[in-house]
Amino acid sequence: MDAPVLDVDLVRTQFPALARTHDGAPFAYFDGPGGSQVPLAVADAMTQSLLHANANCGGAFSTSVEADAAIAEARVAAADFTGSRPEEIAFGPNATTLQFLLAHAAARTFEPGDEIITTELDHDSNVAQWLRVAEDHGLVVHQARLHRTDGTLDLHHLEGLLSPRTRVVAFTLASNHLGTVPPVAAIVGLARSVGALTWADGVHYAPHRRLNREAMGLDVLFTSPYKWFGPHLGIASIRLDLAQSLPADRVRPAEEEPAGHRFETGTQSHEAIAGMTAAVDYLASLGGGGTRRERLDAAYAAIRAHEDALAVRFLAGIEGMDHIVMHGLRDPARLDERVATFSFGVEGAPPAEVARRLAQQGIAVWDGNFYALSASEALGLEAGGGAVRAGFLHYTTPAEVDRLVDALGELG
Ligand SMILES: Cc1ncc(COP(=O)(O)O)c(C=O)c1O
Repeated sequence: MDAPVLDVDLVRTQFPALARTHDGAPFAYFDGPGGSQVPLAVADAMTQSLLHANANCGGAFSTSVEADAAIAEARVAAADFTGSRPEEIAFGPNATTLQFLLAHAAARTFEPGDEIITTELDHDSNVAQWLRVAEDHGLVVHQARLHRTDGTLDLHHLEGLLSPRTRVVAFTLASNHLGTVPPVAAIVGLARSVGALTWADGVHYAPHRRLNREAMGLDVLFTSPYKWFGPHLGIASIRLDLAQSLPADRVRPAEEEPAGHRFETGTQSHEAIAGMTAAVDYLASLGGGGTRRERLDAAYAAIRAHEDALAVRFLAGIEGMDHIVMHGLRDPARLDERVATFSFGVEGAPPAEVARRLAQQGIAVWDGNFYALSASEALGLEAGGGAVRAGFLHYTTPAEVDRLVDALGELG
């Protein structure tokens, strides 16, 4: 089946924020890796939740019943989105909080001397929590290197770090700094060869590529809807038996909650959860017919084709600009190994200065290390203020990419 082609003009009509202007010119959003814009349907769902079903869970009255129903519906949506079962889903304030919480839970089942592997590609939210629990439980944390030349993961180095004591291999599905997509199947195979859990950060991957925890063979997967057109929220998908067996901190009376829900502490943001469902449905609406999972599959094929074309356009545009120093892969033949998130430096201008000059023209980019501290250190970027990062999403247009390229050209 041919993937539907993305109608970007139609997509853009659904995002009120994309109509923003700056000094009379369109405002260009390349800040997506830090957070995306939301379609009207998401804001409407949140308003509906707040104005018409604003009650706590478990009551006999209609607003509480409706709040319960919305949360149950959201678990199904999150399961469709992450390739899991509804019982495997845990909601939380953001990915980082869930990453810390679940690492604390897992570490309570480990022995002193057990080992964890992280990677230099990871956001610090998939590294720092292991350093923290290692202190508490006497664990040893290793870090797999990235290749300095192209920002890909050094799989041989990762393999060499494995041991019979390895309990977790924590890695990102896509780098929020360099855009690199590491080889998931190979990493999962290595982790399984020593019986280690796979602990995947899908935060940066999710707006660009289709998640599927079960098919990818992942034990734990994290994502944040605010990166994929939803509200500020975090989601963990935890393999069912693991979700049932890991120790969870619960208030009394300790009612037995099913699986993933055991890791939801206190009252959740019902409005964000409702908005998340709308974001999943929005994405599915880009994918034609079939079940919601099938529509998401098709939508992501269309999103990927669109973003790959933007990536090729950007790489061709900056080709020959000697003042642009690209960090990470720049070979347009290797788009399978990256998403359309680009990190670079500009000769003679610190990243913060570049970001400021682009902001003056209504072009939003990030500068710094983006909490991908290990990559920033490995590439020797920390002392110089990090890098400039421009991220493309499915609502990015070729004309916006050309505008960015032109603006970068003028910095030379
Ligand atoms: C790859 C990656 N992981 C984790 C996070 C943290 O997510 P959250 O803000 O939901 O805690 C981010 C946020 O930028 C990210 O890009």
